[in-house]
Amino acid sequence: MSGGTDYILGLETSCDDTSVALVDRAGGVAFCRTVSQYAVHAAYGGVFPELASRAHLQAILPLVAEATEALSAAGGRLTAIAVTRGPGLIGSLLVGINTAQALGIAWDVPVIGVNHLRGHLRSPDLEERRVVCPALVLLASGGHTLLAVQHGPADLTLLGATRDDSIGESYDKVARMLGYGMPGGPAIDRAAQAGVARHDFPRPMMREGYEFSFSGLKSSVARLLEKDPGTAPEDVAASFVAACLDVLEAKLRRAIAAETPRALVVVGGVAASPQLRALVQRLGAEYGLSVCLPPLKWATDNAAMIALAGWDYHVAGLLPDLRADPGLSLAQW
Ligand code: KG4
Ligand code: ZN
Repeated sequence: MSGGTDYILGLETSCDDTSVALVDRAGGVAFCRTVSQYAVHAAYGGVFPELASRAHLQAILPLVAEATEALSAAGGRLTAIAVTRGPGLIGSLLVGINTAQALGIAWDVPVIGVNHLRGHLRSPDLEERRVVCPALVLLASGGHTLLAVQHGPADLTLLGATRDDSIGESYDKVARMLGYGMPGGPAIDRAAQAGVARHDFPRPMMREGYEFSFSGLKSSVARLLEKDPGTAPEDVAASFVAACLDVLEAKLRRAIAAETPRALVVVGGVAASPQLRALVQRLGAEYGLSVCLPPLKWATDNAAMIALAGWDYHVAGLLPDLRADPGLSLAQW
């Protein structure tokens, strides 16, 4: 393939979204299609790993075919393939990695194994460059909740992470308790907007450091529902969201005071929450910080962010090994 703009083909299959994208060096997205598996897992109330792998297998090659059509229509040139190598579900990761390796051999292009968390961190720079450094970054997804300082696109210092459940996971579990379907986050957002935060749930670890803990909060919601099953679900949702946001706000304020960043970046699926977006805008205005939020479509899992992170690896000449690593941490490539 020759001529035109250089692209990286991104593949993302770490959890329950199959996504394929073509992204140029500046973050321009020529193509991105994501197939979600909500219908596959709905009956189980959570992601069923074996079914996730099978659904990825069915979805991925047709998406790759669409991407290659888009590449030739744009007259583009393929620099590399970037594929999520972790963290995530082992079977799901393997579908993406095996596909990428086969395509890499067939097309004679390098295959870059990308850390999914570094993908989320690059998501606000898709389509236009938004992040200014140093930035305080909150990653709030289904798999992770962490705070970090970003000194450059790929230069990170972790401040703290969750000790147990991630924030997205607790949104999903509370949604299930309230009888809402998957994904739980948007359902909780909507319910919370219609309710009153009249239940006083705990704010775990709010007064200390940068680590998080959300499992106690989730258990308090369960206890309340056991004791008072007739309570209005909207009020429970509003009270739960208020407790989560209080914790996030306290940690963000502490980190802003200590790290004096220029920007506030919030990424991951929960960054799609209008309540969290409003909180971050308010803090940004109060401290005079530039607020960098990914557009909604790039907040949840997608391959465009993986391809953009792939460019960082390409520029740095990094080709991490392609073994799937379900427990990959932010500090790793
Ligand atoms: O980043 P993501 O797509 O996948 C992971 O890497 O985990 O995040 C998924 C999580 C789910 O827990 C989902 O409930 C949550 O993000 N989420 C939301 C919203 N949209 C997705 N949480 C709150 N409000 C939303 N609008
Ligand atoms: Zn994710």
